[in-house]
Amino acid sequence: MDNRKLKVLLSHDEISAVTGKLTADITRDYHDKNPLLIGVLKGAFIFMADLVRRLDFPLELEFVRLASYSGTETTGRLKMPQALTTPIKGKDVLVIEDIVDTGLTTAFIMRYLRRKSPASLKLCALLNKPARRRVPLDIDYLGCNVPDQFLVGYGLDCDQQYRNLPDICILEEKP
Ligand code: IMP
Ligand code: MG
Repeated sequence: MDNRKLKVLLSHDEISAVTGKLTADITRDYHDKNPLLIGVLKGAFIFMADLVRRLDFPLELEFVRLASYSGTETTGRLKMPQALTTPIKGKDVLVIEDIVDTGLTTAFIMRYLRRKSPASLKLCALLNKPARRRVPLDIDYLGCNVPDQFLVGYGLDCDQQYRNLPDICILEEKP
């Protein structure tokens, strides 16, 4: 771990401004729908906590847990160690993701949820790495695009470390 250094890409204040914009869009579309927000663990936990505390209307929360990464590379094999336990049929569901990278994880979860017949199903992602996309995916509420670099902090990890950093940082190898 000590042969790496961190460079701030988005400060906590910048993340806050992005979240504020997403809050306004989500409020406009969901304020009278009592939506079910489903966070994808573990990465989305801090973003989701900040987002929902700014949503001033009735809503419900659920979580699923998916894992595919080892170090800084996707393994391509997806596991769902924590599946959904409540029915979502007829509900307006909004999935909350930290980052969409290849798109494989998010496409998997959207497919899994769509089979459970929600009234509507949309996606909110704080970050998007378009350069790495391997499957087509619509992001209905996007915070911002980021460059093709490995990011940590604000919930994002590298081998389970750095999730607690308040900023989103680029994890760089030291020369
Ligand atoms: P995807 O399946 O490649 O789109 O990856 C989705 C998941 O991989 C995200 O929800 C993150 O948990 C993780 N991930 C992707 N890129 C990064 C990164 O730069 N830093 C940390 N985690 C990442
Ligand atoms: Mg994630």
